[in-house]
Amino acid sequence: MTHYEVGSVETGRVTLAVDDQGSGRLVLLVHGFPLDRQMWSHQVATIVEQGHRAIAVDLRGYGESTLAPHDGNDGVDMHRYADDLAELLLAMRIDEPVVLAGFSMGGYIAWEFARRHAKRLAALILCDTRAGADSKEAADNRLKMAELVDKWGTRHVADMMIPKLFAPSSQAEQSKVVDAVREVIESTPTAAIAAAQRGMARRQDFSERLEEFALPALLIAGEHDAISPPAEMRNVAERLPNGQFVQISEAGHMAPVENPAAVSSAITQFLAEL
Ligand code: MLT
Repeated sequence: MTHYEVGSVETGRVTLAVDDQGSGRLVLLVHGFPLDRQMWSHQVATIVEQGHRAIAVDLRGYGESTLAPHDGNDGVDMHRYADDLAELLLAMRIDEPVVLAGFSMGGYIAWEFARRHAKRLAALILCDTRAGADSKEAADNRLKMAELVDKWGTRHVADMMIPKLFAPSSQAEQSKVVDAVREVIESTPTAAIAAAQRGMARRQDFSERLEEFALPALLIAGEHDAISPPAEMRNVAERLPNGQFVQISEAGHMAPVENPAAVSSAITQFLAEL
């Protein structure tokens, strides 16, 4: 694992932790909220086995990456996380366009990366994510969590999120996987949770611009995803000029860990076709 410093004087410099494995076509994997790069471990191993390079990053504030002092109160916009990724590539001296794989919040960030750093992008993989912005009610709930997370503690956040993250069958039958995700959520700093919730609450709506995105895009959704419903993701894939959709059986929102082999195989098949 390696650390790279990114950021600006205005937004605060942070250190990002990355795992960088393999060589060949580069896939940059971006986790969701409030998780870290470990969620991609099966996909990283498979991508590398298939002769590609995988870089899994911890976003600012998550896993082993740091947060700037004011991020929790100010919020971190999706475009700031996207700029962190572009600066990470610069710091790693990577010029070639990457395949960006974004899970959930990582997908919100991927749309901003596509808008702001188009030259750095070869293709998109959007996993259990959405193109639209939040409803007023959803945004208000995020701001409530940002305000109260210090008082609630991260165990309460995990209690609230786990039932929505996993399919009922995974909750009943995959306790190790669920416990591992719970542990990551519970060890996430409350300031990182507040930062991302404030940023997600005010994120842009990309759903009206889908027809403009010409690069290849793979959309993946767990069949029981309650946060980013598969029907909505299929619709996004159909509206993209070069989009394709794969539904993952026996999985909810956390498809990459609930049915890792199916997600890894969808990704490597997509890479083989590029
Ligand atoms: C995620 O998995 O990143 C979150 O569930 C995204 C969200 O809260 O919209």
